[in-house]
Amino acid sequence: MRTRKATLPDAKHIHELISAYSSDGTLLPRTLAEICENVRDFVVLENEGRIIGCGALHLYGTHLAEIRSITVGPRAQGHGGGSKLMKALMAEAKRHRVDCICLFTRAPEFFSRQGFVMARREDLPDKIYKDCHVCPRFHRCDEVAMVRGKLPTFAILPEPANWLVKLEALAP
Ligand SMILES: CC(C)(COP(=O)(O)OP(=O)(O)OC[C@H]1O[C@@H](n2cnc3c(N)ncnc32)[C@H](O)[C@@H]1OP(=O)(O)O)[C@@H](O)C(=O)NCCC(=O)NCCS
Repeated sequence: MRTRKATLPDAKHIHELISAYSSDGTLLPRTLAEICENVRDFVVLENEGRIIGCGALHLYGTHLAEIRSITVGPRAQGHGGGSKLMKALMAEAKRHRVDCICLFTRAPEFFSRQGFVMARREDLPDKIYKDCHVCPRFHRCDEVAMVRGKLPTFAILPEPANWLVKLEALAP
């Protein structure tokens, strides 16, 4: 079993892996188009030439990156593949000199083993503005926010007027 950076021909396999866990809300659904567009974010897990897992690192800036879409096929789970994917994604974050990695999950125990600790969603406005504010489960979210590293003190948001916001400015 080994990890490597994904390339475009992997997109279809990545889509299948994510789709298997998105109908019950375990993973955010990703369209094939979205995966192709962001394929450089992805790492795949291979065994004997077959793709059996994937995960992505989305970069917000050196203050924050997010691990998302991480999954190992059901028959391959429990053999260290998930940990290998985490190691590769964390190494990628280090290469980009990212100070904090976040993720949202319903399986916090797995990520605690990888050094992640619970956080408050409001500490991660980049993520809220990217995904959560358009999520139908925004007000009944059952995911836990987790971080590894130094919590960000600012956010880089999409609106041109607010492109860089200190976190105190967002506090209610
Ligand atoms: C979570 C997931 C990626 C883990 O992959 P995996 O290949 O089974 O993980 P590993 O074999 O590397 O497990 C590493 C350790 O974490 C534990 N672990 C694995 N999945 C776990 C889970 N869901 N909850 C708690 N602990 C878990 C393993 O028992 C193992 O413990 P050990 O080191 O004491 O033996 C995989 O179970 C999966 O794809 N789940 C469905 C999708 C999902 O939930 N993704 C995360 C959503 S953000």
